[in-house]
Amino acid sequence: MSGAQTEGERLAELAKRRGYFFGASGAYGGAAGFYTFGPQGAALKSNVEDAWRDRFTVQEGNFEVEAPTIMPEPVFEASGHLDGFDDMLVECPECGESHRADHLIEDETDLEDAESLPIEEVEALIADHDLQCPNCGAHLAGESVESFNLMFETNIGPGSSTPGYLRPETAQGIFVEFPRIKEYARNSLPFGATQIGRAYRNEISPRKSIVRTREFTQAELEQFVDPERDEPELDEVADVEVTLYPATEQQADDGDYVETTVGEAVDEEIIGDPWIGYFVGIAQEWYERIGVDMDRFRFRQHLAGERAHYAADCWDAESEVDGDWIEIAGFAYRGDYDLSKHGEYSDDDFTIFRQYDEPKTVERAGVDPDMSVLGPEFGGAAGDVKAALEALAERDPAAFEGETVDVDVDGETHTVDTDVANFSVDEERVSGEHITPHVIEPSFGVDRTVYTLLAHAYGEDEVDGETRSYLSLSPTVAPTDVGVFPLVSNVDELVDRAQAVVDDLRAAGFSVVYDDSGSIGRRYRRQDEVGTPFCVTVDRDGLEGDGPDSVTIRERDTARQIRVPIDDLVAELRTVESGARTFDDLVEAYELVAPGANA
Ligand code: GAP
Repeated sequence: MSGAQTEGERLAELAKRRGYFFGASGAYGGAAGFYTFGPQGAALKSNVEDAWRDRFTVQEGNFEVEAPTIMPEPVFEASGHLDGFDDMLVECPECGESHRADHLIEDETDLEDAESLPIEEVEALIADHDLQCPNCGAHLAGESVESFNLMFETNIGPGSSTPGYLRPETAQGIFVEFPRIKEYARNSLPFGATQIGRAYRNEISPRKSIVRTREFTQAELEQFVDPERDEPELDEVADVEVTLYPATEQQADDGDYVETTVGEAVDEEIIGDPWIGYFVGIAQEWYERIGVDMDRFRFRQHLAGERAHYAADCWDAESEVDGDWIEIAGFAYRGDYDLSKHGEYSDDDFTIFRQYDEPKTVERAGVDPDMSVLGPEFGGAAGDVKAALEALAERDPAAFEGETVDVDVDGETHTVDTDVANFSVDEERVSGEHITPHVIEPSFGVDRTVYTLLAHAYGEDEVDGETRSYLSLSPTVAPTDVGVFPLVSNVDELVDRAQAVVDDLRAAGFSVVYDDSGSIGRRYRRQDEVGTPFCVTVDRDGLEGDGPDSVTIRERDTARQIRVPIDDLVAELRTVESGARTFDDLVEAYELVAPGANA
């Protein structure tokens, strides 16, 4: 580790210098909370998205959709975001800077979940702890704390008659289209729909570079299930080991992590819902595969006051960077909240028909009021009285047991003879019923995953007497798969063969960087620093020996090199990149080049 830089500062500096990410629109002074991913970062991020798509869409047999990022206001009235998607804001009376009140409290006190506190309590805590503006030091005691809605508002088309919002989560694009997506799933549960795309939140205080931004990428899966019938394939992940931090442990004085397996966690109801357990297991394996350091990773259950307005239970995947835990994904049980709301607010059908195993005979209570009596008795209100009697029969058949029955119409009570209502209970054969599916939602932040991968991959060591810094990114996500070099740049034969190797590797689908500038040692260091897992060097020894022409492959993390026939290069790199073999396997199969050679 170098100097007094924190992990986050070092990461931001490396990210900018090596083209991972940097503040956007710098030419115009920038805008807080917006980042551009440079060539390395865009490639890393897109590889993370591809790996996620492969695991959570393709392997699960789910459907991927791509919905617009701007949606009309009624969507967010129904979803509850217009009313409930707020953070607590306190403004500095001196410099005018806005701050997230709960974050100020968490930064300056031992409290960890200030977000769940009522506004009055937050105001009191600011006063009790005499919190000051982080920008200018002014005292914030006595300042009012306001609810601030995080959605970016816009107008759809000219004028202001059709307000729209940039979506604060990709999920709503899936929920709103449920009536059509369910057709592709042949109206049969369970099924999952996924989406990878941008989400926008007008964060009060964006911070920690790409950890809290105003525009970011989410990868979300909405798993639609019949809560009474559908169960996940828990066996597939039952043995996966996880570190859990349940709400009860967080609240206990001597609370601790629970090291367990997914199967046990669900059996012992530490994780209350098997679907959440299933996705926690898959996520654990996926994060490990893409290179998250599992010693700096946990699943933490939300405390009751912390949950979003739609969630009945929620677990976060959290990674540790710089001593802080960052929420990188959430696993929420959303129940039927979203589909019920959209069903209620729109004219579309957000239910699924649940077919019974066998048709059932059911009793249906009904009325057939005698209008020749109701008409003269209730005049213009007779039609409404009839409708009220029908609704009451369905809702409360017992109300018709007496000689008269009362119904309310526009606040007035009307009494009708039960004989006149003609109440009866008839038997009917039905083959099923309409239900509103429940939703389990694994929701991943792609930017925070990228941040975690870079932080966890950073290492420094000594190679050939020199300190080097490197990123031990997994071959699954590394921006560049292979660096290819001629050992020296002034020998045409080496340069031509190296170019031919580049062409072969690119044709085979590898992302390749060619570099012939500077010493071979410097070229290796450059690739180490951006996390390229393998470097291939074309040297004279490989072209002049008795056997087939060969090249060296150098592994980034150990700097070991092996000599491999050029004809086998593509196949061998494929096996290590796919994880089918390790570099150790190749070391056993091929000649190990002496340390210091080609260095
Ligand atoms: N649909 C559920 C949902 O949006 P969330 O916990 O608000 O849940 C999901 O967001 C993930 O999106 C988080 O776990 C986090 O990784 C990422 N995320 C949320 N806000 C973010 C922000 N301002 N900047 C970067 N990533 C963010």
